[in-house]
Amino acid sequence: MIFRQLFDSVSSTYSYLLASRRGGEALIIDPVLERVDRYLQLVKELDLRLVKAVDTHLHADHITGLGALRDRTRCITVMGERSSVDVVSMRVAEGDQVQIEGLSLDVLYTPGHTDDSYSFLMGDSVFTGDTLLIRGTGRTDFQNGDPRAQYDSLFNKLLKLPDDTLVYPAHDYKGDTVSTIGEEKRFNPRLQVKSINQYVDLMSSLNLPNPKMMDVAVPSNMRQGLAQETIAKRGWALTAAEAVRLVGRPDVAMIDLRERSEREKHGVIPGSLHAPYPDLQENIQPGGMLYELAVSSDKRMLFYCAFGERSAMAVQAAQDAGISTACHIQGGLAAWKKANGPLA
Ligand SMILES: [Fe+2]
Repeated sequence: MIFRQLFDSVSSTYSYLLASRRGGEALIIDPVLERVDRYLQLVKELDLRLVKAVDTHLHADHITGLGALRDRTRCITVMGERSSVDVVSMRVAEGDQVQIEGLSLDVLYTPGHTDDSYSFLMGDSVFTGDTLLIRGTGRTDFQNGDPRAQYDSLFNKLLKLPDDTLVYPAHDYKGDTVSTIGEEKRFNPRLQVKSINQYVDLMSSLNLPNPKMMDVAVPSNMRQGLAQETIAKRGWALTAAEAVRLVGRPDVAMIDLRERSEREKHGVIPGSLHAPYPDLQENIQPGGMLYELAVSSDKRMLFYCAFGERSAMAVQAAQDAGISTACHIQGGLAAWKKANGPLA
């Protein structure tokens, strides 16, 4: 197991690089834009392949590294379904899992600091974002924060985890690096309240100044989506409405790049093939399933995913690998659903 807690001293943000082994897939939680070079250097030094970048919520105090990491590594960006970010590759909800090779994180919806705050539980460790901090809790006075929701997330969700669960927050301003649920229950001053109303009063009386970066960070973090127009301008994109008319056509192979869990939860385009995005490089090389399909038939290869981001990256990679019929459904299955495309 590789577990690296990385610190951005400007915003006092902790980012976490996780992998099950050297040479394997890696995931990063809450990356900071200015630290992206450092993360990628470490990924290279540890012989890892970054496949997912996850934000616990839409940050107000720093610009996320999600978009930059996606553009430089073609990794998948992940946020909660409630996030107001324009586009990420994958959105998750309570009960879902974020998986990479050898590791699985359970998604907990823990709103309150913001309405898009999620925590991620990995075995005996929980990444709490700004919901639960060490001897503190995230402020609830902007970005649709709500002290009542936060009380519920804390007392009815996070504090119900076993006492020895390790707590890894998104920030610390005093130099602490890790705590436990039991320790926070006993010593976190915000958690020593006797009722939800007492917690609401406490959080409402903080009168904190806005974060210095807020006016820059929030709008920037809301625009993380990959520019799918670039792919469209090259003639490699179909609108969902155009794609709907191609269902069942023998000269078109629709390729679903999503994970099995997404297919089960959100449905699939009838007759489409499944070729998960993490296996793409293998699949588009000579000998790979998609490469062989492309050269052995004159089928047009139409990629799709949840929101069009993985498929846009896949089109570029497939075109680079010589598959000249590769194109994708702009906006992914979300656009497909809006265009009343059929689902199985
Ligand atoms: Fe935050």
